[in-house]
Amino acid sequence: MIHIDPERCKRDLICVMECPARILEQKTKEAPPVLVRDGEALCIRCGHCVAVCPHEAFSHRDIPGDQLEPVRPELQISFDQTAQFLKSRRSIRSYKNQPVEREKILDILNVARFAPSGHNNQPVSWLVIYNTDELRRLTSMVIDWMRQMQQENPAMAAQWHFDRILAGYEIGMDGICRHAPHLLIAHADKADPTAPDACVIAASAAELSAFAMGLGVCWAGFFRTAALFWPPLSQALALPSGHLPYAALMIGYPRFVYHRIPPRKQLSITWRT
Ligand SMILES: Cc1cc2nc3c(=O)[nH]c(=O)nc-3n(C[C@H](O)[C@H](O)[C@H](O)COP(=O)(O)O)c2cc1C
Repeated sequence: MIHIDPERCKRDLICVMECPARILEQKTKEAPPVLVRDGEALCIRCGHCVAVCPHEAFSHRDIPGDQLEPVRPELQISFDQTAQFLKSRRSIRSYKNQPVEREKILDILNVARFAPSGHNNQPVSWLVIYNTDELRRLTSMVIDWMRQMQQENPAMAAQWHFDRILAGYEIGMDGICRHAPHLLIAHADKADPTAPDACVIAASAAELSAFAMGLGVCWAGFFRTAALFWPPLSQALALPSGHLPYAALMIGYPRFVYHRIPPRKQLSITWRT
């Protein structure tokens, strides 16, 4: 599964130290590292071995060299840039009546593929509700769920002000998907314990990538919850068998520009020293 070019390898053991599954070892001081017994089964195909080797000595059967993108230091961003970027992201709830180009959505989701996942499982799939009429139809099912919840769980309905959302809906206001043109849904197999975290982290990466592109995003928590618990909506989504929707993002072009960063709670932190 692995090959280390003995000419290029400098025996620095960086690959051995960086392998998260600890499946590389050096038998003798002179020899390049080798795979431990059962190494192939234990490997999580994260590609760290190939990516970290400064000498390009490492090859891995399942990680083709032509798929390894170089890291470009000139594109790295500073802490100040990162802080400004992350703090100036806003949940966008007013969208232009303009579709987002499918290529842009593809670019965003192709960045989200690189988000971390437990055991490098990469369990996330996406359902893109691109058709705005279809999104409105699905949104009406969230409204049905809210009406049902008012009967079944009035305390929860009151806590989340379903009455206001439902009253707004009656007069043409979409408090669920905020009239966004599209919805991105991250879904994964419920049998995979890494799935919920992976979907949320990938959705967060998608949100930030969209923001960097000048697009607006807002997490669609009501939609996501209804999709989990309201059978008509779950059925309408028609996800692959065993899959659950763990994150949903409205997406579109923002109507307004934010000029200031609103304050947030003070940092809550405990140092154990
Ligand atoms: C998991 C999650 C679900 C959310 N669901 C909704 C939602 O259904 N509708 C909505 O308008 N905003 C939703 N939001 C956005 C939050 O209200 C928003 O993040 C918060 O008010 C802070 O504003 P900011 O994102 O602009 O900093 C959700 C956020 C998260 C993280």
